[in-house]
Amino acid sequence: MLRKKPEKTIETSARLLNGLTDKLTEHHSLTLDEYEYLIENRTEAAAGALAERAVRIRREIYGNTVFIRGLIEISNICKNDCLYCGLRRGNNSCERYRLTPEEIIECANRGYELGFRTFVLQGGEDGYFTDEIVCDIIKRIKAGHTDCAVTLSLGERSRKSYQRLYDAGADRYLLRHETADKAHYKRLHPDDMSFDHRMECLSVLRDIGYQVGCGFMVGSPYQTSKTLAKDLKFIEEFKPDMCGIGPFVPHHQTPFKDKKQGTVELTCYLLSIIRLIHPPVLLPATTALGTIHPMGREMGIQAGANVVMPNLSPVSVRKKYELYDNKICTGEESAECRDCLDKRMKSIGYETVIDRGDIKKEGSEK
Ligand code: SAM
Ligand code: SF4
Ligand code: FES
Repeated sequence: MLRKKPEKTIETSARLLNGLTDKLTEHHSLTLDEYEYLIENRTEAAAGALAERAVRIRREIYGNTVFIRGLIEISNICKNDCLYCGLRRGNNSCERYRLTPEEIIECANRGYELGFRTFVLQGGEDGYFTDEIVCDIIKRIKAGHTDCAVTLSLGERSRKSYQRLYDAGADRYLLRHETADKAHYKRLHPDDMSFDHRMECLSVLRDIGYQVGCGFMVGSPYQTSKTLAKDLKFIEEFKPDMCGIGPFVPHHQTPFKDKKQGTVELTCYLLSIIRLIHPPVLLPATTALGTIHPMGREMGIQAGANVVMPNLSPVSVRKKYELYDNKICTGEESAECRDCLDKRMKSIGYETVIDRGDIKKEGSEK
């Protein structure tokens, strides 16, 4: 909830917010205190001004195109126990599954026919997916579709493992940092997980040559304007190629089952800010955003996002990949989600494209 303030304060605050919006648009950088102020004093007018700038800058780089990624949820088995996630090992009522390499390749083949040129293999940290097995899957997808990119989102692995997957042909890696504040990280994860290790993984991935994605949940328990300011500063410094942010949504079988979910408003506000911090960033309007609001993904695009990730997993396993309650698209076929998102994007003046959807860095040809 936004605080009520006396009129004079409102005027000063509006002026300050305008100044910060100008500064961010021009310099792509604010101090930690300034980010915190921007978050703490969010108003509808400020959100509108930031979204307008974000959309303008996104249009200059990507026009009215929206990139699509075919998401394949390869396993819901996880050795970790993140307090927020429905796939955590402590959730005994989760019905576990893993796709076979053949099933994964089949999803990618089907996706290719539907116009996808990026496949995202995502899953829990499942020991079955050794380097050998994942390398084989990557090689087979890339050999079958030489014009495609493979993105991995398989959690924390060793440098050697990341290197082997890269050498097998993986192009991108998504590993949300979850929070850039160490104390906050500790409140979201059990003791056997480490903030430093997560951050180290991101720098190793970058070092190896992957296009790297970080990100966080908006409205996660114990998040504050201060921790969010740190997230924004981290993004400003790390300059990820991709950045996944979506609202935290509670799952009924986790310790956070009674915590409040994140909001569409704050998620969209942060999407606009992130676009202005790093203009070419590949920024998805996430499924979680579509889950908490029927028009969430459209609102995300209108705030500055430029990617959507329809689901390519077999319908038989969709409901089982339940990170949070009421996840959408659990009953639809791949083609239905593809069509649905096409229409949704068209309805707001955007167009999904058949393209790998690489980041357009300054001076790059595409
Ligand atoms: N296991 C890998 C990892 O953690 O990086 C990849 C899969 S994991 C399910 C992908 C992302 O889902 C996490 O980075 C987290 O931000 C998000 N997530 C998990 N539980 C969530 C929840 N309750 N609400 C919203 N997002 C959630
Ligand atoms: Fe496992 Fe990822 Fe869920 Fe954590 S967020 S429990 S690592 S699937
Ligand atoms: Fe899956 Fe709309 S995107 S049904």
